[in-house]
Amino acid sequence: LKKVKKQKVLLMGKSGSGKSSMRSIIFSNYLARDTRRLGATIDIDLSHVKFLGNLTLNLWDCGGQEAFMENYLSQQRAHVFSNVGVLIYVFDIESRDVDRDLATYVNIISALVQYSREAKVFVLIHKMDLIQPMTREDVFDRRVALVRRKTAEAVAIVRKQKPELTGPSPPPPPGPGGAMAGSLPSPDSPIPDLEVSMQLFATSIWDQSLYKAWASIIHDLVPNLSVIETQLASLGVAIDADEILLFERTSFLVVSKWTSPEGESNPYGDRFERMSNILKAWKHTCSKFTGTPRNAEQFSDFEYKMGANFSMFVTKFTTNTYILVCMPPGEASSIAPS
Ligand code: GTP
Ligand code: MG
Repeated sequence: LKKVKKQKVLLMGKSGSGKSSMRSIIFSNYLARDTRRLGATIDIDLSHVKFLGNLTLNLWDCGGQEAFMENYLSQQRAHVFSNVGVLIYVFDIESRDVDRDLATYVNIISALVQYSREAKVFVLIHKMDLIQPMTREDVFDRRVALVRRKTAEAVAIVRKQKPELTGPSPPPPPGPGGAMAGSLPSPDSPIPDLEVSMQLFATSIWDQSLYKAWASIIHDLVPNLSVIETQLASLGVAIDADEILLFERTSFLVVSKWTSPEGESNPYGDRFERMSNILKAWKHTCSKFTGTPRNAEQFSDFEYKMGANFSMFVTKFTTNTYILVCMPPGEASSIAPS
């Protein structure tokens, strides 16, 4: 029997930072320009995303207007912050009130470690397209240092107040005999050093950076990925490929990849998220021509030949995945789907 893993994913950050935009692009096939029409999220917008057949993401897109944030931190505190697998916190890099944003962030992190100390944290420094390209790296590095420092502060607060704050444990999730209760960390287990384990990304809906960040998030969540990775490697060696990528069907996020020793010399380190972006655009174009609703549209094959340099094709692989195979010159014709 296949074990289905459910993960509660909190998407948080102040109003207008771009949470619903990224969710709509990754999971509902919006184009970046479509997001201008999104209204502010009222309270929490819950959605369930099935991933590769054995992972369900319960995505909590939490409206970021101040009154809602205060409510999550008070009345809804246990409800929102219990049993969290992942927190994705989005900062708008163009925000005018950085201090206030960081104060809210500290409160959110404190609530998270109080109720779900094992949760993974991803911070997206978003709307990077609005920063001059020349200064982007600098701006990002400075923000990363600041966020890590604030995270450490938030964790320290909870550690200090632990006796009161660890308080009544959250109720065990429904299920036969509260099966998961045993796996919940005991209130005395140490709070991990979140400022070290957290991951930060510079993102924008206007380029492929969004795909890089979300692929990393998903990569950490898919169960049994090592099995898939081993099998991809065997396949790659068997057919003499340069590279193989596995994309999730709806989002086109790269869930797994294998690269041959020769393929490792490819200088384009961002080629994976670029492919996600390109294939998503291709899917859009397909749906425009066939008139199918864009969520339903699936293409079967996509082939690309670059003279004598390399050749690649993308084809449906399993119900939930597409596979991309990149072959060295001369090898492609024997293997491409006809
Ligand atoms: P609440 O629901 O109120 O919490 O806001 P939200 O975080 O969901 O913001 P939303 O996704 O609705 O985005 C607000 C605006 O930001 C929209 O007009 C988007 O088009 C814009 N936006 C989102 N991401 C980016 C980005 O990467 N760059 C730029 N320039 N604008 C973006
Ligand atoms: Mg929203």
